[in-house]
Amino acid sequence: MLPREKVFRDPVHNYIHVRHQVILDLINTPEFQRLRRIKQLGVANTVFQGAEHSRFTHSLGVYEITRQICDSFQTNYPDLWDDSERLVALCAALLHDVGHGPYSHTFEHIFKTDHEAITRRILCDESTNINRILREVAPDFPQKVASVIDHTYPNPQVVQMISSQIDADRMDYLLRDAYNTGTNYGLFDLTRILRVMRPYPDGIAFDANGMHAVEDYIVSRFQMYQQIYFHPVSRGMEVVLMHLLARAKTLYEAGRFDAAYNPRLLIPFFEGTWTLKDYLKLDDGVLNTYFTYWLDYPDPILKDFSDRFLSRRPLKSVTFTSDTEHLLPDLKALVAEAGFDPEYYTAENDSFDLPYDAYDPSSANPKTQIEIMQLDGSLEELSTLSPLVAAISGRMTGDKRFYFPKTMLQPASDDADSTYQQFQHYLLNGALINLR
Ligand code: NI
Repeated sequence: MLPREKVFRDPVHNYIHVRHQVILDLINTPEFQRLRRIKQLGVANTVFQGAEHSRFTHSLGVYEITRQICDSFQTNYPDLWDDSERLVALCAALLHDVGHGPYSHTFEHIFKTDHEAITRRILCDESTNINRILREVAPDFPQKVASVIDHTYPNPQVVQMISSQIDADRMDYLLRDAYNTGTNYGLFDLTRILRVMRPYPDGIAFDANGMHAVEDYIVSRFQMYQQIYFHPVSRGMEVVLMHLLARAKTLYEAGRFDAAYNPRLLIPFFEGTWTLKDYLKLDDGVLNTYFTYWLDYPDPILKDFSDRFLSRRPLKSVTFTSDTEHLLPDLKALVAEAGFDPEYYTAENDSFDLPYDAYDPSSANPKTQIEIMQLDGSLEELSTLSPLVAAISGRMTGDKRFYFPKTMLQPASDDADSTYQQFQHYLLNGALINLR
């Protein structure tokens, strides 16, 4: 334990309280400090300009919520909670996202990296500072922490604290993202939820009198996905980033990458030979620096996408459904006719989420359902008690979008612009429609 508690000031939780030397040492490792240089929401700051917060702030927040849960369990349920589990829970909370890279989801898609596997390596590979600090606790401690993150740790209370349909990770990112994007409907009553959260032998449940606070959290989460995480313009910027990286990789693979613009730190990823050390050198700034160099690159597509990314020129979009999907080849042909390579200048993008689900053993990935504890100690699944949650439970929500250059929407001034006019015939109220 530290001789004196250390605190970090935080806009969501006010103070992050650190009492263990191990936690402070983990925060001070280069692998963890690197998270300061990776934005939590990637390109979302191009739509919600406040969303500049980092994975570092989120990781500390998940740690703090977990610490508060442990304090409450230790004070109120000492017979049901074993406080010797506290350190493994705190370390797992702090480190659960340590394997994220810059613009994670897009980067992973292009370079086939996997942040969960990398998190495990950062914890378990003897070359890292994080592993060395965890090993000082006990030789098997790195594996223990990794097993909490992998959901294989034997104590379900610890696993559910970090990962379930209402866990410290989700509660922190929803509040933090709502705060930083300025969207107040993403807020919910964390203090109340922590107050009614209680351990039982098979996991974590909520007291019946806290049901509405839990319900409000589910509704907030639903709205954050629809309004923030699935924002069509943010996805238009993700498409730009995806095609920018894909173009760079294609040029490199074709042996056509101009050596003067070589992105040295990305080459191991182009070649598929990267090591953990290579991965830990990357952050948002490294990628943005290469994009700035490529503004002068001779290839027009790489140059244009670098400019689109840095100057915020997203692709535009319309929604489509299974009824209108057959029209996409026609639209792509018109985009090509207008002079754009459809491989880069068009895209299809789906974003769907399951806001909440009751346990379904037949599902490929069954979720731990939210249990409400009745006065007699029996458990009831949340959606059987809440009509609001029942209304969104088990239903995937989101949309499918087709992306294309904004030029296609310009008004046709003469016959030369008939390609644009034909394109626009397929669109009505932001959706693709079948022509009569
Ligand atoms: Ni997280």
